[in-house]
Amino acid sequence: MYTIDLSGKNGVVFGVANEHSIAWPIARILHQAGARLAIAYQNERFGDRVSRLTESMKDVLLLECDVSSDESIIGAFDEMKQEFGTLDFMVHSIAYANRDDLKGNFSETSRDSFLMSIDISAYSLIPLVRYAAPLMEDGGSVLAMTFQASERVFPGYNVMGTAKAALENEVRQLSQEYGDRNIRINAVSAGPLETLASRGIHGFPDMRKIHAERAPLKRNITHEEVAKTSLFLCSDLASGITGTIIPVDAGYHIMGI
Ligand SMILES: NC(=O)c1ccc[n+]([C@@H]2O[C@H](COP(=O)([O-])OP(=O)(O)OC[C@H]3O[C@@H](n4cnc5c(N)ncnc54)[C@H](O)[C@@H]3O)[C@@H](O)[C@H]2O)c1
Repeated sequence: MYTIDLSGKNGVVFGVANEHSIAWPIARILHQAGARLAIAYQNERFGDRVSRLTESMKDVLLLECDVSSDESIIGAFDEMKQEFGTLDFMVHSIAYANRDDLKGNFSETSRDSFLMSIDISAYSLIPLVRYAAPLMEDGGSVLAMTFQASERVFPGYNVMGTAKAALENEVRQLSQEYGDRNIRINAVSAGPLETLASRGIHGFPDMRKIHAERAPLKRNITHEEVAKTSLFLCSDLASGITGTIIPVDAGYHIMGI
């Protein structure tokens, strides 16, 4: 339990698939801080698991939302408007690429799977912000999850690196557009964590090992550390921070070798 108080605040977390999802400890810590939460999952395949996970959480609104569909996004925000009236924060913790594109040569990426990865992993932030903003009447905080493959080459990460570059650029452009409404938009750049999504990346165990060896803190980060920084960014303590990518990576990003 941390001392940031989010009671009276409403927020939504997109991207809980299971207990290993980065979105899950983020949802838990925001809930523990007193916020009223909506938790959005991709489709009915995840529905049972997510409702079991959230069983002990008081007053949680569960929403199904496939971000590749505008209709589904609009439906989710309609429900939030009805239930909450207003929103104070939103967490985007969503990414997808075909497994075949997360190994081998980047040059082999097909047009269709490139577009699908960018659509789900990067474009989706734009409509989510567009529909969340009218509910953020007193300003708000939006948070996305990114990875350093946006600017450095991590073989195997391939098209997802392109998606993260696009996502980080969106964070900057959207933060400029919505700044005058006091809506802050940032991203956490997390070190490698074992999750459903990362399991699909070829060479991921090596990535974790190398991170732990070379990072100044000489270890991998934890899910909890991403959640703590997310709590800070969603709270008023971060009122002066927008358009920023904050690394939570045990310092790995500063290293030359
Ligand atoms: N795991 C890591 O090492 C790591 C590191 C840095 C950043 N990230 C980022 O963190 C975020 C969460 O990933 P994770 O590692 O927790 O894996 P995860 O698989 O648990 O989460 C990915 C989520 O995206 C959702 N999703 C995929 N397609 C969707 C769609 N069409 N509509 C709605 N939701 C959809 C999945 O259902 C899932 O909940 C991603 O943006 C990922 O790139 C992960």
